[in-house]
Amino acid sequence: MATAAAQIPVCASVECQNEARLQCPTCVKQRITEGSYFCSQDCFKKSWGMHKSQHTQSKALYDPFPTFNYKGPLRACYPLSPRRAIPESIQKPDYAETGIPKSEFMQRGGAIRVLNENEIKHMREACRITREVLEIAAKAVRVGITTDEIDRIVHEATIERGAYPSPLNYNYFPKSCCTSLNEVICHGIPDQRPLEDGDIINIDISCFKNGFHGDANGTYLVGNVDDRGRELVQVTRECLEKAIAAVKPGVRYRDFGKIIEDHATKHGFSVVRAFCGHGINELFHTTPNVPHYANNKAIGIIKPGHCFTIEPMICEGVWQDHLWPDGWTATTRDGKRSAQFEHTLLVTETGVEILT
Ligand code: MF3
Ligand code: CO
Repeated sequence: MATAAAQIPVCASVECQNEARLQCPTCVKQRITEGSYFCSQDCFKKSWGMHKSQHTQSKALYDPFPTFNYKGPLRACYPLSPRRAIPESIQKPDYAETGIPKSEFMQRGGAIRVLNENEIKHMREACRITREVLEIAAKAVRVGITTDEIDRIVHEATIERGAYPSPLNYNYFPKSCCTSLNEVICHGIPDQRPLEDGDIINIDISCFKNGFHGDANGTYLVGNVDDRGRELVQVTRECLEKAIAAVKPGVRYRDFGKIIEDHATKHGFSVVRAFCGHGINELFHTTPNVPHYANNKAIGIIKPGHCFTIEPMICEGVWQDHLWPDGWTATTRDGKRSAQFEHTLLVTETGVEILT
């Protein structure tokens, strides 16, 4: 059979036809295979002047934080794609141009808003769109797709529905959704990392329509995920379900933490403390603050007309977080996996309506 021999590349040096078994180290890093093999150091050196141009000409992938103390195996995979455009016709939140959510800062510490029927109608619409976009993104999950490609799908599905993707330029966040893989707790930035068999990925979608935001996320399995990973995802889903089942007027915002932490710890998992659920309406993040851990001191009593999220982040190992130098990506401090589910909720007279 000639097939085995045919797989050995020919030396990339111009006038050399030798079998080539040495690969250019830069090409290895950038995952370039074409024209990257040489028969000898000699041919490699001779060709360098020409060869190196293919590193910059091709879509070179690189880790922007090569000296960073990563806690798990995941690496940032740059370059980020260019900023995606928003059609003029789409209504934008205040931070879309400036990066600064000024209205959120001005409202800080204010009372929890009670929405009227018209405002609730807009919340329902923003949340319906958010759910649709999340479903579209989830359907795109497969081995080999990059998180940037998922972001493109999310961006297009959002603007197709006349909505603005709330994450885009929120405190300068560069993309239209968050994609958080494996040890990433939340706020992962979509980049050139292809999904791999066995990954878990959280996709967090927020859509702004008619002046109101919806917010939802889910964690999805990529190919074959091990038993503990599947259990982590299932228990996290149950944590959210159990907390939602407790929502009704008169309950305190601080009460969800115990429900969530009891369920997580029963299965040997821990609860993230640095990131909480939040009020959501014309502001993306506002009062109340909704911790997911027990013995918290959150302020506020649930009343009809309140809109807020519950979005527990549950970890295989420790709950402590560690921020990447991009200022966004939060991973676990032990590099073990974390999962999350989120819904936007409306409090009714008797209980709760899941808007997403
Ligand atoms: N959607 C996230 C949440 O659940 C917030 C993302 S903010 C971003 O609250 F800037 F990171 F997109
Ligand atoms: Co949220």
